[in-house]
Amino acid sequence: MRLLAIYGSPRAGGNSDLLLSSFVEGAKRVGFSIKEVYVRDLKIMPCNGCGQCSQKEFCPLEDDMQWVYKEIEGADVLVVATPVYFYNVPAPLKALVDRSQLLWHKGLRSEKPGYLLSVGGSKGQRLFEGVVLTVKYFFEACGFYLKQQFFYKQIDSFGEIKRHPEALKEVYRAGLNLCQK
Ligand SMILES: Cc1cc2nc3c(=O)[nH]c(=O)nc-3n(C[C@H](O)[C@H](O)[C@H](O)COP(=O)(O)O)c2cc1C
Repeated sequence: MRLLAIYGSPRAGGNSDLLLSSFVEGAKRVGFSIKEVYVRDLKIMPCNGCGQCSQKEFCPLEDDMQWVYKEIEGADVLVVATPVYFYNVPAPLKALVDRSQLLWHKGLRSEKPGYLLSVGGSKGQRLFEGVVLTVKYFFEACGFYLKQQFFYKQIDSFGEIKRHPEALKEVYRAGLNLCQK
């Protein structure tokens, strides 16, 4: 079984990276083969709305998204980790999400499980609402459904999540549990 892990933060080694690494460790332990994608290292242009994906099921933008499409389609499980940036995902990850419009046009059935891990600095009651909507519909465009989500509020400074070992354990366990239907 293949797990595609999408690291959505521009900050290398930050809180969402640490959470996702822990999730991935759990998944490795139960035998998943893992592909890790660090969005910050990729060249993914924003969708320009040219409409070619609706007519030809093809995206003319020649960049890293071309191989990311294949990774998404080949994965059995998808996990996205992201910080909250202005109540949504950071711009580089949003570019990846918008480019999934190609997959949306393929009309894939949302049958495979997807997981969302997110952190935000504040304690706002509606802190994760924007992220959830964006990621839920991203998953559905890509043939996945949002199976489980993990949110951690008031996590702001670099590496602060390490002071919450229960959070890291929780997502590690979620990785371990991937083998259970
Ligand atoms: C540009 C920017 C926008 C942010 N917007 C929000 C926000 O709207 N709400 C919030 O609670 N935290 C916000 N934060 C704080 C981050 O969500 C927080 O620092 C998080 O822990 C970063 O995760 P990371 O280490 O994985 O990058 C923002 C941070 C940045 C740099």
